[in-house]
Amino acid sequence: MIRYGSSDFDKVPWPGERNAIIKMSLSNVQEFDETFNRNLQECKWEPHPLYSVFTQYDREYYLERRAAFLHKYRCLYAVSKTISPKTIIELGTSAGASADAYLSASPKATYIGFDIFAENGDRDDSPPWKPDEIARKLFKARGFKDYQLIRIDLRALDRLPRRADFVVVDAGHDFDSEYSDLRLALTAEPVFILVDDSGAEAKPAIEKFISEDLKGRLAYTFPINYIGGGLVLKLVA
Ligand SMILES: C[S@@+](CC[C@H](N)C(=O)[O-])C[C@H]1O[C@@H](n2cnc3c(N)ncnc32)[C@H](O)[C@@H]1O
Repeated sequence: MIRYGSSDFDKVPWPGERNAIIKMSLSNVQEFDETFNRNLQECKWEPHPLYSVFTQYDREYYLERRAAFLHKYRCLYAVSKTISPKTIIELGTSAGASADAYLSASPKATYIGFDIFAENGDRDDSPPWKPDEIARKLFKARGFKDYQLIRIDLRALDRLPRRADFVVVDAGHDFDSEYSDLRLALTAEPVFILVDDSGAEAKPAIEKFISEDLKGRLAYTFPINYIGGGLVLKLVA
């Protein structure tokens, strides 16, 4: 287990009271629903022309479903705009496509992304696809400066290194990974958790997390209808 005082974690301060999590409205699901839908309707966000799922090594899959994925990333934008977080932690950053949506909607937020950032060397062409390099190029192109990318296996963590009002869970979706990541997300003391790809595979882990780990701590859930599905969990303050 990695604990504080080692590795990349030294560089991630736990904010003190001054930066403590802001009190948010969105106290009921109707309010979240209305704000989210307004933000989604007004969303003009477009994927970056050079760095997005539509340009990456496996782009054919995304290009064949372009409208569905554009809708998905705009939903992610609208969630971030709705919450307007101070700090975003994402478990499973990959090449930063979703981070682009979250940060475009909340450009003042601090972003910390965790991933193993495995290179893809299976392609015939070269050089290998390096997700963290792409993410850095994307963030530079977008002008995002307040971010950290942490290369780590999430299973080496017993807690996250700082508080975050918004934590996104989008790493492994098998039962053990999903459940462990949801529990890990809680250690940042979030106000909102977004479970991306919350559909079929992730469902049992989400249900166990809600019934066993969020007992008495869940204010509401807000499912979002996009490819793969998303689920917002609002925790009680
Ligand atoms: C579905 S992708 C994330 C996509 C990204 N959030 C987006 O929408 O653009 C899942 C990511 O989780 C990472 N991942 C899976 N298991 C992990 C683990 N145990 N530790 C760290 N990263 C992991 C993978 O490397 C992969 O990049």
